[in-house]
Amino acid sequence: MIIAANLKTNLTREKTLHYLQEVEHFLEQNGVSQEVLVFPAISNLNSHKGQLVVGTQNAYPAINGAFTGEIGYEQLEEFGIKTILIGHSERRHILGETQELLALKFNFYKNLGFKIVYCVGEPLSVRELGHEKMMEYISAQYEGIDTSYENLIIAYEPVWAIGTGLTPTLEEIDSIHKELKVKSSAPLLYGGSVKVTNAKEVMALENVDGILVGSAALYAEHFCTMCMYAQELDK
Ligand code: PGA
Repeated sequence: MIIAANLKTNLTREKTLHYLQEVEHFLEQNGVSQEVLVFPAISNLNSHKGQLVVGTQNAYPAINGAFTGEIGYEQLEEFGIKTILIGHSERRHILGETQELLALKFNFYKNLGFKIVYCVGEPLSVRELGHEKMMEYISAQYEGIDTSYENLIIAYEPVWAIGTGLTPTLEEIDSIHKELKVKSSAPLLYGGSVKVTNAKEVMALENVDGILVGSAALYAEHFCTMCMYAQELDK
């Protein structure tokens, strides 16, 4: 299974270091052999040795250059970062990233062999239009994306479930995942208000290959518990 923590714009450099040490120690002590990914804030990126893999929440599709406020491949390479999150709903909706830009990022980092966690998901207004419209909306988020890329992981994250404490029912998650699996055989994570209290039942679903966790992952202890659940399920 794949367990990923998106730390967003949280924690300092020092706290992130402690976080990574704590999680790493836990994985080792408890023999967790699952794939664990952590995405710290960009200013907190650093070289990391160990089992867990540190990825970046964002990067511009360039080696370097005049892209004020962005980082490129050169800044990731310094720390040996080869994993990137692309298409997160906060970047689509708050930062206004278009499908065109996301596809550009995807292809740029794909050509560099990065592991890409690519996020899709619908806002509530779209969900309310019914299943067909919702699937059309999600399908459009696959445009320009190589769904057969070998280092691809997809995360389905309904926008209305992110940071809200609301989630689709387990049946809904499993059936949407089943439909999305037809589009790509890449591992498919669920994200959106995953907590210690629901992580295990979500991960146990047939069509779920792991979880992408935001707020609840900010507590290393909670994230570790979720890694342990993944280990117990070991699928
Ligand atoms: P959440 O965020 O767990 O706080 O809902 C998930 C995400 O944004 O990836």
